[in-house]
Amino acid sequence: MFHADHAAIAVELVHNFSLVHDDVIDRDVTRRGRPTVWAAYGEPAAVLTGDALMALAFQVLGRGQHARLVPRLCRAVQDLVEGEALDVAYETCEDVSVADYVQMARLKTGALFGAACALGAAACGADPVVADHLDRYGQALGLAFQISDDLLGLFGDPRRTGKPVGGDLRQRKRTYPVLAALSSPHPAAARLTEAYRDIKDLEPAELAELTVLIDETGACAAARLTAREAIDQAEAHLRAAVPNPARTASLRALGALVVDRSR
Ligand code: IPE
Ligand code: MG
Ligand code: MG
Repeated sequence: MFHADHAAIAVELVHNFSLVHDDVIDRDVTRRGRPTVWAAYGEPAAVLTGDALMALAFQVLGRGQHARLVPRLCRAVQDLVEGEALDVAYETCEDVSVADYVQMARLKTGALFGAACALGAAACGADPVVADHLDRYGQALGLAFQISDDLLGLFGDPRRTGKPVGGDLRQRKRTYPVLAALSSPHPAAARLTEAYRDIKDLEPAELAELTVLIDETGACAAARLTAREAIDQAEAHLRAAVPNPARTASLRALGALVVDRSR
């Protein structure tokens, strides 16, 4: 009998460590409808809490029957950290392409989704080719999830998402919809470029204005399309991993949830 529990718990702990640190990095004060760790207890406590969660993740995985998978989870954390570093670097870089974004999002979000699938498959003794397809399924699903997350950062309802709206614009994040709008021939692109060059704090009215402008360029429709394409890619890997559709119904439902998420 195979058990993936230790691997699942380790992934969940890494996920939470990354969010505790991400909220410090992004200066966000709410998550899951509650004050973020740094907002409630200060930055030193948030840094240390994240560190402790990560150490616990590796302890759980290393003590379970799948200790051999520790290096695979380490790789996911290294990728995630690299993705977070690129996300921050892009805030102040004008020369960021959609391809750069895709690489960054695959690292910061796709890597852990991929690892979750790869660890689950490996823990259950899957053939390495199957595990690799599931890894790629997770990576593509993670990319779609991140693009949807970018849209929620602009249009989400904080009562449903549990996190603030407008924070990405405040931090001048080069999210998918922002990059699509910046490269659009629509006149709104110039106003957005100017707002992204300016380092002053954006007022709520300016955040609302920029959100409308981004949508007017058609960038949000483009983002939804790219998320959909990533889901199609994910499903192709799923079919290659497990040809019988009856056995992948719940994973395919996840894809639908990701492109249609409101929280
Ligand atoms: C978070 O990315 C990804 C990681 C924690 C690695 P974001 O900053 O885009 O996600 P939210 O919107 O804060 O959840
Ligand atoms: Mg964030
Ligand atoms: Mg972030």
